[in-house]
Amino acid sequence: MEKLKNKVIVITGAAMGLGLASALEAAKNGALLSLVDFNAESLEAAKKEIESKYPGTQILTAVADVSDEEAVKKYVEETVNTFGRIDGFYNNAGIEGRQAPLVDYDLDVFKKVVDINLMGVYYGLKYIIPVMQKQEYGRIVNVASVGGIRGVMNQTPYVATKHAVSGITKTTALEYGRFGILSNAIAPGAILTPMVAEAFKQVNPSDPQAAEDEYAKANPTKRLGRPEEVGKLVVFLLSEDCSYVNGQVIAIDGGQSNAYGNV
Ligand SMILES: NC(=O)c1ccc[n+]([C@@H]2O[C@H](COP(=O)([O-])OP(=O)(O)OC[C@H]3O[C@@H](n4cnc5c(N)ncnc54)[C@H](O)[C@@H]3O)[C@@H](O)[C@H]2O)c1
Repeated sequence: MEKLKNKVIVITGAAMGLGLASALEAAKNGALLSLVDFNAESLEAAKKEIESKYPGTQILTAVADVSDEEAVKKYVEETVNTFGRIDGFYNNAGIEGRQAPLVDYDLDVFKKVVDINLMGVYYGLKYIIPVMQKQEYGRIVNVASVGGIRGVMNQTPYVATKHAVSGITKTTALEYGRFGILSNAIAPGAILTPMVAEAFKQVNPSDPQAAEDEYAKANPTKRLGRPEEVGKLVVFLLSEDCSYVNGQVIAIDGGQSNAYGNV
């Protein structure tokens, strides 16, 4: 059964990683897609990949930086002009920044992480919620992280902004549930995307694979997650099957965030 048949779904950061995996899963489930990313070349490649795997999928693309309010307003307007509505919003674009303790953290990188991970998430909601309010229907999936429910060494701005995403999700759920809009967040653990591969390179530049193996050891499942596993959860939360889950931050991490001590 196609869980998103004829639903209009906006996905930010859609060119690769968790955004692309969710776009593929949404296309498989019959969605009409509005894909947003600031990397024009990768976005075009993502569109081609989706069209080749799921021919006939209607796809609008917008090259936009989610931390630029005017650009966000524009991609929302273009989506409504093209499809007439927005049923689901996967508010996913985000960056990790650098790895450094708080005192040594580069201030410009810190501010950039805040601009994209916090302000970018907020702008998307600011312009998409009114569209959903008029329809009296909407499903929002924000992307937090295990770093949105726990501390993580050397990642102060990432953890701060992801906790902010968890907080925004809980508040949005309270404010807009009465309009048929359900807001949830996912909190992925380490899922093997280009962003995480880059983090392993920073942790151990001479042997990133060793950093990955070490990380996997601490997980109850003894492996990293796969982007398509996240895509399936996202599609459920964007669908009508998700009818009474609201304001939750759902970990998808193989159980790792429950652990105390070695597993
Ligand atoms: N991969 C993981 O293990 C993991 C874990 C927890 C949370 N997350 C979160 O999931 C989201 C996606 O991560 P990913 O691993 O797929 O990353 P990724 O780097 O593989 O992909 C991110 C995509 O977002 C785009 N993007 C980045 N900044 C943007 C901006 N300002 N405007 C528009 N597009 C932008 C990039 O071009 C890229 O296509 C992020 O919010 C990240 O924090 C990922």
